Amino acid sequence: MSDQVVTGDVDLSIVDEMVERYGTEPSAAIPILLGLQESYRYLPIDALRYVTEKTEATPDQVYGVATFYGQFRLKPVGEHIVRVCHGTACHVRGAVSIDQVVCDSLGLADGEDTTEDYKYTLEKVACLGCCSLSPVIMIDDKVYGSLTRKKVQRIFKKLGREGAK
Ligand code: FES
Repeated sequence: MSDQVVTGDVDLSIVDEMVERYGTEPSAAIPILLGLQESYRYLPIDALRYVTEKTEATPDQVYGVATFYGQFRLKPVGEHIVRVCHGTACHVRGAVSIDQVVCDSLGLADGEDTTEDYKYTLEKVACLGCCSLSPVIMIDDKVYGSLTRKKVQRIFKKLGREGAK
């Protein structure tokens, strides 16, 4: 076990653990970054820099992986992820309107995806795989289907979010 290295709020010992687990070959970059994202919930820039120091992967390779794959996040995310489906079935049944109510409920302005208190992050997704329930949103692992604007308002009201930032 290595000495703990902490940069700002980022505990870099997690990088050491991942490198120990997956090795230093450039090909280890993907599993290392997946492990880091699971721990940090996103990929902090200090952790990515440290990966380039601790492995044989070049900065181009590490940043290439981090930016190429859609599942990697480069910004901190909220405690809860709200996924609003914009797939065809949901789009036809009013996903845009549902999305607007979600944004209003979370107090998100245009272009914002995470609430100021880092409780919620909004993601637009292509299909959640339950089109017969469209329009659909997911909050963490829970699916809410056959939504109307009112139903969405009720869901967020229950969660204590009624437009507060
Ligand atoms: S299009 Fe929304 S769940 Fe498939």
